[in-house]
Amino acid sequence: MVEVRRICCIGAGYVGGPTCSVIAQMCPEVTVTVVDVNEDRIRAWNSDSLPIFEVSPGLQEVVDSCRGVNLFFSTDMDEAIKNADLVFISVNTPTKTFGIGKGRAADLKHIEACARRIADVSIGCKIVVEKSTVPVRAAESIRRIFNANTKSSFNFQVLSNPEFLAEGTAITDLKNPDRVLIGGDETPEGQHAIEALRSIYEHWVPKSKIITTNTWSSELSKLAANAFLAQRISSINSISALCEVTGADVEEVAHAIGTDQRIGSCFLKASVGFGGSCFQKDVLNLVYLCEVLNLPEVARYWQQVIEINDYQRKRFSSRIISCLFNTVTDKKIALLGFAFKKNTGDTRESSSIYISRYLLEEGACLHIYDPKVKAQQIMHDLTQPTPSERHDPATVSRLVTIVTDPYKACENAHAIVICTEWDMFTELDYEKIYKAMLKPAFIFDGRRILDSLHDQLQHIGFQVETIGKRVNQRIHFTAIEDKSEIDQQQPLKKIKL
Ligand code: UDX
Ligand code: ADP
Repeated sequence: MVEVRRICCIGAGYVGGPTCSVIAQMCPEVTVTVVDVNEDRIRAWNSDSLPIFEVSPGLQEVVDSCRGVNLFFSTDMDEAIKNADLVFISVNTPTKTFGIGKGRAADLKHIEACARRIADVSIGCKIVVEKSTVPVRAAESIRRIFNANTKSSFNFQVLSNPEFLAEGTAITDLKNPDRVLIGGDETPEGQHAIEALRSIYEHWVPKSKIITTNTWSSELSKLAANAFLAQRISSINSISALCEVTGADVEEVAHAIGTDQRIGSCFLKASVGFGGSCFQKDVLNLVYLCEVLNLPEVARYWQQVIEINDYQRKRFSSRIISCLFNTVTDKKIALLGFAFKKNTGDTRESSSIYISRYLLEEGACLHIYDPKVKAQQIMHDLTQPTPSERHDPATVSRLVTIVTDPYKACENAHAIVICTEWDMFTELDYEKIYKAMLKPAFIFDGRRILDSLHDQLQHIGFQVETIGKRVNQRIHFTAIEDKSEIDQQQPLKKIKL
């Protein structure tokens, strides 16, 4: 068995950085070097202001405990690859924005660049590990690049070892994983490579939690895990739409079904839709794979998870517009929260971006506050062209103001829209906020974080609107007569009791 003494990780992002910091802390005899083409990122990893934000138990503490001892961050990729016994590939695999598979397939150009770099500089024995989420059989492409480009003195094994950490809880997830998954070749050499990587994780993960499979099962399991999690959110969000027109409460429904052990209670929180760098990308990737492999029924099944997510974002935005008397043009709206979930500064695929765009299209003036996301990032997200649309930066800068104080965001606003479930939003002084707002003052709770305050907020005078529940129970809604009403998001016919 190869003994792993030196690890190189290519990609110092949300996955590579925390994963390798924990490996370095748990395996003091192993030297870990994390490399990246992005010099600013490496500089930040070498500073006291890390490029990513992770809450307690802090990433900074883990980094501080081993940086400069057995953990190094560098831009010298070739040197780190050359010296390593094992190389993790942890680069980004975004959805393609052009060409074949545009908007669905994963763009593997960074993975390929890494494979070519490794092939160029490597000699001796190396284990190369895919950490990035990739389409099934990506390992085969890496092997082919190695076979076609390496000298005879380079002996390699390619493993798949997907990462299941979630942002905001990365360090806890890494230190106490539900499982570690390692996929490799069924040959004796492949099995030795699996054992070598397993021995790293065994420093802190119980043997029983380390699952080994063939390479393709491991690659597919990562896509399937994210697709199942995303599917649960779309399932509960679809029920939330039903709750809003029937008088049921989605939180009560989620609790009632989640107590069935076969269903379980996790990932049943109705919301403005899931965001983050993984769910949408991986489900689309799965859909594309099914299409390419001529499985159109399976592709359509998973595509629906994305469609419900888009529907939820549109539905919430339409509800804001219809409650504000069918127009938000020139109205000030305070949008609280821009990160895709609390406890992270990451905005990738955040529902806040989509909701902001819908409201901006209607001419709303958005005053956006997030405790962790920088103004520059918000403006970048709102002006960045998508595969289907372009956003005029001049209009966005005229209509969007980024503020550093939530109370300022709400001053003279017609409505507050909560998009991220930051704890601090439950602790705001809503009496003070109400006094400073235009009346009627609306709160749209896209995260169900103000449930316990609804009575109090209504008592103050707020009109509270929330996902999956009619807060004002005195108003009932007639059954929807025809589907076109849902499609067009027309306000429903109200009957006062
Ligand atoms: C996810 C997976 O959880 C992780 O295993 C994988 O490695 C990467 O993708 P992450 O994207 O960091 O992690 O966050 P996660 O906590 O899964 O949340 C994703 C999105 O779903 C967020 O926008 C979150 O707010 C939303 N969500 C989550 C809900 O709307 N309801 C829920 O019940 C759970
Ligand atoms: P993830 O969430 O998957 O970790 P990130 O975007 O946070 O994704 O991080 C991926 C990192 O990989 C980025 O810092 C990027 O600069 C780096 N990267 C991409 N391509 C290469 C490459 N060919 N060589 C080295 N680093 C790369």
